[in-house]
Amino acid sequence: MKFFLDTAHVPHIREAASAGLVDGITTNPTLLSREEGDPREIILEIAKIVDGPINAEVVSLETEGMVREGLEWRKVSENIVVKIPMTLEGLKAIWTLSEQDVPTNCTLIFNPIQALMAAKAGATYVSPFVGRVDDIQSSGMEVVQQIVQIFQNYEIETEVIVASIRHPMHVVEAALMGADISTVPYDVLKRLSQHPLTDAGIERFLADWEKVKGRS
Ligand code: G3P
Repeated sequence: MKFFLDTAHVPHIREAASAGLVDGITTNPTLLSREEGDPREIILEIAKIVDGPINAEVVSLETEGMVREGLEWRKVSENIVVKIPMTLEGLKAIWTLSEQDVPTNCTLIFNPIQALMAAKAGATYVSPFVGRVDDIQSSGMEVVQQIVQIFQNYEIETEVIVASIRHPMHVVEAALMGADISTVPYDVLKRLSQHPLTDAGIERFLADWEKVKGRS
């Protein structure tokens, strides 16, 4: 499973990339609004660090505007994936862009049929938002399981990005289900690497080394 980082915060991207953990980046207007400066400059900076898909989202609600914005984003870097919301207008934009070989990520997906429709429209990626499904007392990971199953049934090549991840178990379950990608907030990525027994083990090794290090 590939790891994307779900952030526009350059220092976090740099840190995670230095451990080889960043296969790609997802951003959205909310994530970009948390950073200082021109969104295009931020995406450009990210593109200098990450050699992989970098998702930038359109904000137009009509197909024509989405396509125009998507093509504008593509001028920033050849690695840009145009993120488009799951609406009928969005599907038309995905179709139009796919005909021009522009990669797209259909975002704000909350059920398997939306994912299937996005794939049929030519989306390169679909992004089910698991945390937001959990928020309304349903199962986000069940939606992912169904999408993965449907894509397997029909040998659909569209990749599944598990998004709106809130905790490490979302990532573990995504990997077990065979989702292609988890897009992970930085704090979750850090928690994924941690285990109390690892910390206790290091502490014990260091304490024992203190006993032997003076010996010659
Ligand atoms: O990947 C989508 C993500 O940024 C949304 O996350 O936590 O706002 O639902 P959240």
